[in-house]
Amino acid sequence: MNNNNKSLIDKLEAEKKIRHEEWITLLSTYTNEDRTYAAQKARAVADSIYGKSIFIRGIVEFSNVCKNNCYYCGIRAGNTCIERYQLSRDEIMDCCKAGYEYGFRTFVLQSGEDLSYSCEDICDIVSDIKKLYPDCAVTLSIGEKSREEYAAYKAAGADRYLLRHETADEEHYKKLHPDEMSWANRMRCLRDLKELGFQTGCGIMVGSPYQTVECIAEDMEFMGDFKPEMIGIGPFLPHKDTPFRDMPKGSYELTLFLLSLSRLMLPRVLLPATTALGTINPRGREEGVLAGANVIMPNLSPTEVRKNYMLYDNKICTGDTSAACRGCIEARMERIGYRVEVTRGDYLC
Ligand code: SAM
Ligand code: FES
Repeated sequence: MNNNNKSLIDKLEAEKKIRHEEWITLLSTYTNEDRTYAAQKARAVADSIYGKSIFIRGIVEFSNVCKNNCYYCGIRAGNTCIERYQLSRDEIMDCCKAGYEYGFRTFVLQSGEDLSYSCEDICDIVSDIKKLYPDCAVTLSIGEKSREEYAAYKAAGADRYLLRHETADEEHYKKLHPDEMSWANRMRCLRDLKELGFQTGCGIMVGSPYQTVECIAEDMEFMGDFKPEMIGIGPFLPHKDTPFRDMPKGSYELTLFLLSLSRLMLPRVLLPATTALGTINPRGREEGVLAGANVIMPNLSPTEVRKNYMLYDNKICTGDTSAACRGCIEARMERIGYRVEVTRGDYLC
């Protein structure tokens, strides 16, 4: 084991931060042993706070219509090869009804940036869910909106909001997005969400094109300062109908390492073992949990539409039913000594 890296991992755990140059050293020289060391520590930290519980969130991908053109994303506006769909309010409620029966107590409503759902439409859906299932949390993941819209969602009862910052480096952001999109606005959104009292999630794709160790160091420092309640970290995976189709996928091992370091830096953070991690490696979700993750987000979308919410090639679970995913996750977690909890699974302050 690299003793310097071991001390940096210990320092991160003890002080919750390390210096910029220390991040660069750790991220550019870590070995598999360092990664295992960090994973064991991260798992112990997660166990000490959340025990053997894994929280599940049912994700309803309610529309794949998107006005944006992020270069990495399979549902980008410029992709003319996919069939677009938009679920109605009733269809979304049907997904939640099934999800409630399967033991989900958090519903994540995710979509492209689809302007045909007005602020009022979203608020109505959120308040319907909260009225019918008062014991459930609602998470929104519908992109960049105005502060007023976020405030309206909050007033309607939304509890959490996921908006990955994608990169803390503005120059890197410009290489991933067209000129109409702005890093400053994404950061403004995150600040507004937190100020409005959402449990707020940010995060990155590991190995996104043009990402450097410097970028990841900035991401970790940004997250250490911002203190999100949730962090979404998954590998970048190329999609065949995007400008990044020929770019290499992100590293599985680095993703696991960053999950562990995130847990050590922000011990209480809600940290999913993402679908992308399960796509890059069939044991990704189990190994993600063993590296410190404590959330899994199985799909609750109707099976017919899942293949059209392909953010990247070969996304898992697109042919499965919600019942199959629910059972699958429970069995996967049991095999590694964890149990899926029927609870909202809030951030523990
Ligand atoms: N429109 C919302 C937004 O922008 O936050 C939510 C949906 S968006 C598709 C959700 C996340 O998917 C993005 O934040 C991005 O990090 C991830 N994603 C998109 N394309 C990806 C790819 N090719 N590989 C891995 N993750 C990807
Ligand atoms: Fe969908 Fe395993 S989670 S089949």
